[in-house]
Amino acid sequence: MLIDSYDRVVDYIRVSVTERCNFRCQYCMPEKPFSWVPKENLLSFEELFEFMKVAIDEGVKKIRITGGEPLLREDLDKFIKMIYDYAPDVDLAMTTNAFLLKGTAQKLKDAGLKRINVSIDTLKPEVAQAIAGKDVLKNVLEGVDEALKVGLKVKANMVPMKGMNADEISDVLEYCKARDITVRFIEYMENAYAKAGISKLSGQEALDELSKKYSFVSEGYDGASPAKYYKMDDGYRFGIIEPYGDDFCKQCNRIRLTAEGQLIPCLYFDEAMSIAESVKRGDIKGAAAVLKEVVRTKPEKNRWGGEDDEVSTRAFYETGG
Ligand code: GTP
Ligand code: 5AD
Ligand code: SF4
Repeated sequence: MLIDSYDRVVDYIRVSVTERCNFRCQYCMPEKPFSWVPKENLLSFEELFEFMKVAIDEGVKKIRITGGEPLLREDLDKFIKMIYDYAPDVDLAMTTNAFLLKGTAQKLKDAGLKRINVSIDTLKPEVAQAIAGKDVLKNVLEGVDEALKVGLKVKANMVPMKGMNADEISDVLEYCKARDITVRFIEYMENAYAKAGISKLSGQEALDELSKKYSFVSEGYDGASPAKYYKMDDGYRFGIIEPYGDDFCKQCNRIRLTAEGQLIPCLYFDEAMSIAESVKRGDIKGAAAVLKEVVRTKPEKNRWGGEDDEVSTRAFYETGG
């Protein structure tokens, strides 16, 4: 079992398979980065899988594939199948913008993917275009429908921004509720790559707004997820993720791996250690040692809302949130 210096069990790894993305979300990557990581620097799926085996053998029980946009990487279903065949009980999930899901959902499900989390920031085509930088809504919603149809569990992430999509939180909630999709409203986290001037709707503001229309009770955290959940009268649950206001770091159970093999102990911090050389050499012991060291050095908490209220220097598209 992987246990950090604050007695937290680390059993969840988020694996970014590419930093590239076909969207340019304002809160993440409004302009294309000056340069992408050269493709030859990416770990192959075989190499990533070698490390997944190490992580699973050390006690990892949940693996989330992220990006950038993971569906831009060819043969993703093969990577999913490698993990599934090795450990069918692992909670195998993916975070995607859903644009390319329509033709691929069945293949991913057949390969062993269990669930997906999708960004649904708006239900208005022109707002989707403004947020993502291109006309994406139709594909996204068709992709979500297809995922539901093939039996993938779906959660939605919405980042409400004032003057942009914040007036749609109850519409997005209704859309999700009608499809049994759990929606989580995420406070925008400032970072050096986002568009300047975004004004976030805070978690409290979202709750105040929703309470004008609905009645619900607080259920608190669900395991180690950063979301606090609320239950409505009819049993539907939605979540709020408040990196500024809340202290979910206390139960944080996750580390992140970039597509180049940097293992990151906390979303916020720049510190990271590479597993690339070890896996390329086939040095399983070396990779396990790096994993343990990264877990050992996992910081107590992120710095959002801290004394200095710093802005993260790490791009979200590198780690997939
Ligand atoms: P589930 O297993 O479906 O609950 O997944 P999850 O809670 O890990 O959710 P997801 O990957 O959809 O994460 C939702 C968002 O929460 C991320 O995209 C981030 O924006 C935010 N988030 C997740 N982990 C952390 C974290 O460690 N720190 C901070 N500050 N935010 C996080
Ligand atoms: N603040 C909050 N959430 C973000 N995401 C990406 N960038 C940010 C940010 N700056 C979330 C999106 C997406 C997930 C991968 O990360 O909601 O669904
Ligand atoms: Fe792409 Fe996701 Fe970032 Fe949007 S939030 S630009 S979909 S990586």
